[in-house]
Amino acid sequence: MLTLILQGILLYSLSLAYWHLVRRFAVKTALDNIPGPPCPSFFKGNFRQLFSTHGWEFHKDIAAKYGGVVKVKAVFGEKQLYVFDPKALHHILVKDQYVYEETSAFIQTNLVLFGKAVFCTLGDYHRRQRKLLNPVFSIAHMRGMVPVFYDITRKIRDAIAKKVKNGPQEIDMASWMGRTALEMIGQGGFGYSFDTFEEDATPNPYSASIKALLPALLRIAFFRSYLSYMTNIGSPKFRRFVVDLLPWKNLHAVRDIVDSMHSASSEIFESKKRALLNGDEDVTIQVGQKKDVMSILMKANMEAAEEDKLEESELVAQVSGLTFAAMDTTSGALSRTLHLLAQHQEVQEKLRHEVTEAHAKAGDLTYDGLVSLPYLDAVCRESLRLYPPVSYLSRTTRQDIIMPLSKPLKGLNGEDVYEIPVPNNTNVIISIIGANRNPDIWGPNSMEWIPERWLSPLPPSVSSAHIPGVYSHLMTFIGGGRACIGFKFAELEMKVVLSLLIESFRFTPSNKDIFWQMTSVATPSVAGEGGKLQLPLQVSRVLDERRIY
Ligand code: HEM
Ligand SMILES: *[C@@H]1O[C@H](CO)[C@@H](O)[C@H](O)[C@H]1NC(C)=O
Repeated sequence: MLTLILQGILLYSLSLAYWHLVRRFAVKTALDNIPGPPCPSFFKGNFRQLFSTHGWEFHKDIAAKYGGVVKVKAVFGEKQLYVFDPKALHHILVKDQYVYEETSAFIQTNLVLFGKAVFCTLGDYHRRQRKLLNPVFSIAHMRGMVPVFYDITRKIRDAIAKKVKNGPQEIDMASWMGRTALEMIGQGGFGYSFDTFEEDATPNPYSASIKALLPALLRIAFFRSYLSYMTNIGSPKFRRFVVDLLPWKNLHAVRDIVDSMHSASSEIFESKKRALLNGDEDVTIQVGQKKDVMSILMKANMEAAEEDKLEESELVAQVSGLTFAAMDTTSGALSRTLHLLAQHQEVQEKLRHEVTEAHAKAGDLTYDGLVSLPYLDAVCRESLRLYPPVSYLSRTTRQDIIMPLSKPLKGLNGEDVYEIPVPNNTNVIISIIGANRNPDIWGPNSMEWIPERWLSPLPPSVSSAHIPGVYSHLMTFIGGGRACIGFKFAELEMKVVLSLLIESFRFTPSNKDIFWQMTSVATPSVAGEGGKLQLPLQVSRVLDERRIY
């Protein structure tokens, strides 16, 4: 029985692979005329270079050498486009967003992992979910998050203060920022606390599962690319049966993570439901006083027209979906900013001055108080520009489509190319870093981290480029109908955390060499220590501690 199933799967995969090979290798298209880097391997194309944890140089080189649209090769010579030309991006994300869809591998994998969370859905169905979710993330609701964010950050600050009370210490800030981001989405997202930040707090099993998910997925990467075909075979029960039977430890690890995420999400959801139904007494036990994302969403769902309502299983899916979307991204952004501040003491000092003065005057800041601090804002924007946590994304065309360009390319036939006829089923890599670092837009110092650039008017090339981003002419949170729904949440979280931590502590580099890995969300590690997620920084108390004790 087992061997039969295995053989079936193997045959099915092989014939699919063969079909892909023939189709992609043989067909001549307009993409042949687009220049791109040489291809080191027919079998793997440029993928080793593009998707390596050390991919930074390759991305930089092809952007500099070939410009806003670059042809790269996937496995078996399949042609793909690497894009950061602003007009092309506008078409991909806004104008023709329903032609450039998430790849089916992405959608199917995520459906299996999370259920119908918003980023696992397409087309009209996705639009329906966004219609309900968008108002939940409105500025009005985000204002309510600020006091919650301050309460959490104070706990973290006190915990770190204890560690450095007898003098400077090396502290792994990546681990702290991971816990911070999880607690922020726990309380801000669901009114649920994962972490007490006490000395001997054991890591929450839910956070352990979510953290383990990306590395576990990496270990089954090959299988994952075929998951999209597998999900069409048989019923979910049958597939579960197959997964249980396959003697594959890494796959079972993913299965167990998915199970534990699902049971934790259901538990969080059920407790919310009880609190909402029981009225106000129960709710006081919950943190966040019903101002959390999930409570607002559940109320909105009750009041929504019948055809707009989400099912309970879809609401549950949002719990792990939001946690996953919010956690590594925001903690990565915070870690990166702390790392940069450690490397630029003069910036750190200037920022400390601004936030200390603001807190001394007003105590905890309100939403308006926070967003009106110019230097804090400049530091966040510049870090999110030069080091976007997500460096690139993939999309696939669902029909033949014309991709117009802001700046013509020189085709391989020697003629200028103003627009590219892109065939159906072409994968497009949206280069977020390419757009954010484009010297045509940001000027000759676009590769440098200079918060001051945000304090004076930006060069006219920035506004005339019409970058289709929701945030600050940047692609960090992309744009269009699938733009990051949580960008204000992330921005506020960063501002609260940075303002309190920088006021209380001085961060300097440790003697370890930090290397940022170009993973789907960039992660800090120590060179030579096997890629383990960590950011050791030297932390000391700021001498004037009047606000700590
Ligand atoms: C600095 C932090 C963050 C960054 C850089 C970031 C970046 C992104 C990007 C690039 C996407 C598009 C993904 C794609 O199209 O495949 C996205 C989508 C999304 N983000 Fe964020 N994000 C951040 C924080 C957050 C937070 C805090 C939340 C929730 C509170 C969140 C919730 C989401 C959701 C739900 C989506 C899917 C939207 C959709 O498909 O309609 N993100 N984010
Ligand atoms: C594009 O290709 C897909 C998959 O091969 C196919 O299902 C779809 O019908 C094609 N779209 C058009 C408009 O031809």
